[in-house]
Amino acid sequence: MRVVNTIADMTRLRAAFGAETLGFVPTMGYLHAGHLSLVRQSVAENKCSVVSIFVNPMQFGPSEDLERYPRDLERDFSLLKPLGLDIVFVPDVGEIYPPAAQHGTTVTVYGPTERLEGAMRPGHFTGVATVVAKLFNIVRPTRAYFGQKDAQQVAVISKMVSDLNFPLDVIACPTLRESDGLAMSSRNVFLTPGDRATAKFISGGLFAAEALWQAGERDAAVLESVVRESLRRGNFVNIDYVAVVDPLTFDPYTPGSTAALIAVAARVGTTRLIDNILLSCVSRL
Ligand code: PAF
Repeated sequence: MRVVNTIADMTRLRAAFGAETLGFVPTMGYLHAGHLSLVRQSVAENKCSVVSIFVNPMQFGPSEDLERYPRDLERDFSLLKPLGLDIVFVPDVGEIYPPAAQHGTTVTVYGPTERLEGAMRPGHFTGVATVVAKLFNIVRPTRAYFGQKDAQQVAVISKMVSDLNFPLDVIACPTLRESDGLAMSSRNVFLTPGDRATAKFISGGLFAAEALWQAGERDAAVLESVVRESLRRGNFVNIDYVAVVDPLTFDPYTPGSTAALIAVAARVGTTRLIDNILLSCVSRL
């Protein structure tokens, strides 16, 4: 496993891989078992695999947690080493955003960015799409792997790849959960034991909504109210949204359409958590 810090080295090594399949897992580091499952899938499905670790300032709003976002490169390297990947690309901020690029080109995806996370975090998805487009151009993967926990991010990147004709497949991988149901996230490190006891009411509500869906319930308001009821039992005070949406467009779910996803964002203590469950299968863009 080689650690590469510059775009020039990454480009040179990428060229040496030639036409072999290349799997890519973009991350912001502080890796957990969810990330490692993406890396394992990439290594199993491709001749070469690259992971990037880059905390992307462009996707954090001015009052968000860029400064306190957890970072531990040595820990990340030791988790990645046994997995058999080829390269960890760890550029610094100046490498990705040199002064000339700072007020230059950005990538804005319309459509799936308008609601939920897009509405709560203005500019977030432009930051994500811009850095992912840059990383795709630098790494030039054949397949890129993303966690379904960030379902709206998957929809935004899939749309960008389709609209801008990136020659690669976006692979969405299932959310991994802790034993109490909490979706794995680098930010879980901020949760106190008390926060953890509260947080599990998010997945509890989603599982209850999923059971109702499987029993035939298709009324979005009913499905959403089951999740809100669970959050009430967990004494949540700050709920950003609970919504049943189309998993590709993130438009509100319309009864009769087969694809649906129920998504939640809520705050516990000082930490904002998001989670979702796919209620039925989606064919990719
Ligand atoms: O999901 C993440 O960790 C980030 O949004 C990503 C895709 C690495 C872009 O910075």
